[in-house]
Formats: sequence, C-alpha cells, structure tokens
Amino acid sequence: MKHYLQFNDLSADECNYVFARAALIKKKFKSYEKHHTLADRTLAMIFEKASTRTRVSFEAGMYQLGGSVVHLTTGDSQLGRAEPIEDSAKVISRMTDLVMIRTFEQTKIERFAAHSRVPVINGLTNEFHPCQILADIFTYIEQRGSIAGKTVAWVGDGNNMANTWLQAADLLGFTVHVSTPSGYEIDQSIAGLRSADSYRVFDDPLSACAGADLVTTDVWTSMGYEAENEARMKAFASWRVSNTMMAAAASDALFMHCLPAHRGEEVDADVIDGPQSVVWDEAENRMHVQKALMEYLLLGRLD
Ligand code: CP
Ligand code: NVA
Repeated sequence: MKHYLQFNDLSADECNYVFARAALIKKKFKSYEKHHTLADRTLAMIFEKASTRTRVSFEAGMYQLGGSVVHLTTGDSQLGRAEPIEDSAKVISRMTDLVMIRTFEQTKIERFAAHSRVPVINGLTNEFHPCQILADIFTYIEQRGSIAGKTVAWVGDGNNMANTWLQAADLLGFTVHVSTPSGYEIDQSIAGLRSADSYRVFDDPLSACAGADLVTTDVWTSMGYEAENEARMKAFASWRVSNTMMAAAASDALFMHCLPAHRGEEVDADVIDGPQSVVWDEAENRMHVQKALMEYLLLGRLD
C-alpha cells in the first residue's frame, strides 16, 4: 500500500505515469466519455482548514471515476472533540477505500497514515501541498513540454508550496530560484531534499526571475499563520510579482499561482489576469491529476 504524503512519495517514473494518465483522463472528460475505474470505491475527505479547489476537485473527480465521497470537517466530526487521530484513522479506513486530509502539521497526517488500512493523500499541510505541484507540473508539460532542465522562480514565502516545488525539482531535475524576505526563508531540512543542487537562493526577487521559464508565487499569509498577517504585509511588500519581474523572465515564461490569490499583494492584477498566466488551467488540472493519482494508488499501473 502506498500513501501520498509528500511529493517524493512517488518516484520520477511514477510521476511521469500519473502525468500521462492524467492527460488521457482529461481527454476523456472533455469528450464526455465515461471513465469509471473506481466504481463502488469511497474517498473520505477530511478538512481541518478551508478549501474551494481541493474540495471540488477531489469530490467531482471521485464521482467522475464512478466512486463516492464522504466529507468531514473538524467542526462536524469527533476530530474536533479530541478523538485521537490514530483511532480516527482506524475507524475511517475500515469503511472507505482512500482518505484525503487537509490539516496543520505534517506529523498529523503521518500519524493518520501509520494507522490507516487504506492509502492517504495529503490535501495540504503546513509543510507540503503535493497535489498542487502535481497539477502545476502537469500544466507546465501541457503548455511547454518536459520541465526537466527548466528554471522555476519562486517569489514570496518559504511555505508549503515552496517546500513542495523544491522537492519536485530534486526529483524531476529542474532548478528553483528562490527569493523570500529575510525571516521567511525555506528550510532545506523541512523541505526534505536529497541535496542543495536543485535550488539557488536570491535576495532580490527580480534577480530570481531573470531568465526563468516559470514564475510563481503564493499568498503572503498561509492558513494557520493569520496572527502574523500584519508583520507579513510589511515584510513581503517588495515580493509582489509584477510585469517588471515577468519581463526579466524568459520571453515565453508562464505565471502560476495555486490560488486563492490577492491581487495587489503577492501579484499584480495585470500579471495574474495577463497573457502569461495559466492559473485557471492549473486549477482545473488539480482534478485531472488527482483522478490519475487516486486511480494509481488504488489500482496501480493500468497501461
Ligand atoms: N490551491 C488550493 O489548494 O486551493 P483551495 O485552498 O481552494 O483548496
Ligand atoms: N500556502 C497556502 C496555500 C493555499 C492553497 C496556505 O497554506 O494557505
């Protein structure tokens, strides 16, 4: 049994299988062809933080695969009344085939997985957001071909998205140029990298964007860090992705953002709503790659 708790829980070969399978699944979805490979299977979705895309993409995706879903939140389940995570894992995984969790500490999802009889998928933790980066790389491949050897500029917080980009670069052979304000740097040990070869740190966000094939950012204040919001607004003021930064990147560079976005904070409206932005494809592709991922975790390779 395989869990998907971090990006590198799949090998490069397995990622490439999931991308190829997602392309097939997307094509069938667009032509209204049935693809019921998970008929009669049930996905439990546990949300301890808010969500729009993750909820809709997993729920719609599971129905499209012929399965069904159970939606739980901290507020409407015994999880919010201190039932031990280990007990919750034992119970939920006896009644369902797959579990997706969005929560706070990575250790929480690891403890759940250690006591689960079924595969567990990380739908975002404080440390990682692997399903989002699967969708982002799938989107890059759709638009530009292989990401191997390319350069991704990360402008902003050294957060769950940044950690996951770094893990993906380490696994799939591309480079990340990271620029964060002082005090919000990435931590290589949290990112869980094999080496420091796949990323470079820049003090100046404009220099990080120079020649990049993809420029990406995220909110300045992630879920769970709201108390730091005021300090972060000040610290991040020079880390707003602008047209000047996009102009420093390669002429065919893409702009990505996992969403939700705050125009005028981490990105200017004319960048996110401009011609280089592929944010809506990114959002849609969450559903296609996650369908491929769920199918792979439950059924293995099908072609
Ligand atoms: N990108 C993302 O995970 O969005 P949600 O928080 O809406 O799920
Ligand atoms: N870094 C953000 C991503 C939201 C999808 C957060 O954790 O809130």
